[in-house]
Amino acid sequence: MGEGFSEMSDFALQVENLVKVYQPRGLRWNRSPRAPVRAVDGLSFEVKRGQIFGLLGPNGAGKTTTLKVLNTLIRPTSGRASVLGYDVVAQPLEVRRHISVVIQESAAELFLSTLDNLLTFARFHSVPPAEAHRRAEKVMDLFHLREEAARKVQDLSGGFRRRVQVAKVFMVDTPVVFMDEFSTGMDPILKRAVMSYLREEAARGRTIVLTTQILSEAEELCDDILIMNRGRQVARGDLRALKLLSENVYDVSLTFEKLPAAIEQHLAPLAPRRMQVSGNSVEFSVKADEARVLALVAELAKRERVLRVEVSGASLEDIFVELMK
Ligand SMILES: Nc1ncnc2c1ncn2[C@@H]1O[C@H](COP(=O)(O)OP(=O)(O)O)[C@@H](O)[C@H]1O
Ligand SMILES: [Mg+2]
Repeated sequence: MGEGFSEMSDFALQVENLVKVYQPRGLRWNRSPRAPVRAVDGLSFEVKRGQIFGLLGPNGAGKTTTLKVLNTLIRPTSGRASVLGYDVVAQPLEVRRHISVVIQESAAELFLSTLDNLLTFARFHSVPPAEAHRRAEKVMDLFHLREEAARKVQDLSGGFRRRVQVAKVFMVDTPVVFMDEFSTGMDPILKRAVMSYLREEAARGRTIVLTTQILSEAEELCDDILIMNRGRQVARGDLRALKLLSENVYDVSLTFEKLPAAIEQHLAPLAPRRMQVSGNSVEFSVKADEARVLALVAELAKRERVLRVEVSGASLEDIFVELMK
């Protein structure tokens, strides 16, 4: 891995006018048998090394497709993409040598045990055997896989298979890590732990590229976010920059002694984007200036006693809802 490393590009990813069209052929794709699908439709972006980069978007936005092109699993229809300066079409082996990938549908090596999965992966990435064993011990502790060390992956539940896949990332030092919806099937405690390991890895200089539909994940983890929909970019930046996109969007949470009658109608003039009533509480998100929001709260407080008020700036979820409109 030594050669070429120092001249490696400053950019972990460079994507230029990337297009991926799935052609309908064969029986595998039967949902819309005629029309080709433009899964990625002219995407351009760059990601600096050492970042935690989040590719966000609703289901079907083109996140996995983008990742697969970058991972050399599928070829782009047009445009260019490179990882650490290595072109995904012209230099796929160089790309693969420098990345580890956790992708949704790819199975861990089913016939190998958990431990052998970890060791094999390390060997592929040229980690010396003694070091690989040392890391495997540590990683199995981190991921609570010790009991499953000798079990074949095919005999593990979905959640444990996922853990084995994610655990592999921590066996090696590939400068770039790709994770497609990594937290699927993880319990919250493990997810939290993985997020903190990912932060450590990024602090060591690795670039983490992840896709997610879970906005709180991206909000907590990502330095740099690209929101996409229908194969195209709809927003790009760090969380602060993205939040400016939805200035004057507020999340409001009110708890009353008794919920005012017809609360929905009181809120209707502010055209809330989301609203949820549960028990004596109402939570909603509005785009309005602060004075109007506070006036509304004051007015509601005249009707029923307010026990608790919380007003906060836009969350990533609000931004998302704004952008998807
Ligand atoms: N192998 C395929 N053949 C045809 N269409 C596909 C294939 N894979 C994905 N698609 C379509 O491409 C679009 C983008 O899918 P995908 O990249 O998986 O989105 P995401 O990961 O954001 O949910 C969707 O409309 C999806 O149905
Ligand atoms: Mg996907």
